[in-house]
Amino acid sequence: MVGGSRGLGAHLAARLGEHGWRVTATGRRPRSETHLTESTAYTQLDLAAPTAVEELSALLSSLHPRLIVYNAAAYPTAEPDLAECERVFRVNALVPHQALAGYLPHAACTCVLINSDSIYHANRHSGVYAASKAALRVLASALADRCRGSRGSAATLLLGPLADDRKEEQFERIAQRQRMSTEDVAQAFLRRANPSYVVDSLIELDACVRSVEYLVELGAHANGMLCRLDGGSAGSLL
Ligand SMILES: NC(=O)c1ccc[n+]([C@@H]2O[C@H](COP(=O)([O-])OP(=O)(O)OC[C@H]3O[C@@H](n4cnc5c(N)ncnc54)[C@H](OP(=O)(O)O)[C@@H]3O)[C@@H](O)[C@H]2O)c1
Repeated sequence: MVGGSRGLGAHLAARLGEHGWRVTATGRRPRSETHLTESTAYTQLDLAAPTAVEELSALLSSLHPRLIVYNAAAYPTAEPDLAECERVFRVNALVPHQALAGYLPHAACTCVLINSDSIYHANRHSGVYAASKAALRVLASALADRCRGSRGSAATLLLGPLADDRKEEQFERIAQRQRMSTEDVAQAFLRRANPSYVVDSLIELDACVRSVEYLVELGAHANGMLCRLDGGSAGSLL
């Protein structure tokens, strides 16, 4: 679980562990500050570091995983300079591409690259992040092409707004202040965030777990696949 120290990654790590997987998670923070259960192994790894590709490649070679979930995501500061844009692109697209290109075609392994519906509706605030995720989407196709004729596969799980702790807490606060139900706050958020959303609630983390497990079950058939759990964010055509 690359980027598994908190949020969706920690949730996936816990559930996959409960379902019989032996999980190793990575993140920057020390183990004591992660949201991981005791049964999940943990390695500190900064994916923005100059040595990140070598470190991630070495970890993959030592663990020989049957499943890799690339969940890590870097979010830029409000007005990112070029160095900050490069950091975001490294973590979100370039490091996974370089490390996985060397590993996947030689391993019996499914890789699920977690992507975001931000690629469909970038604005001035989300542009750099969305562009890095769009790069990851394109590089996922390049990885899938490398996997032809091998037992490795690269699939994309593209997600919409998740029911993560941060949003749940924020909605709770607004609901109390406005004397509304949290369900109504969530619906108002979704309508305002993107008129194409056809869901009335945030996407449950367990739905992401089931989607990852589905992609693993498909094995080589999932190579090049795009699985969208995004509330219809791109509208009718895509
Ligand atoms: N949250 C949403 O609503 C939403 C919507 C659509 C798609 N997604 C996608 O879902 C995935 C998870 O999102 P999330 O909201 O759960 O993210 P998150 O809570 O911000 O967690 C991101 C993970 O990436 C790790 N990470 C960040 N920068 C890193 C770096 N330089 N080196 C190593 N690890 C790093 C973090 O660990 P440390 O902090 O320990 O470094 C953390 O474990 C992301 O790929 C995101 O694009 C999320």
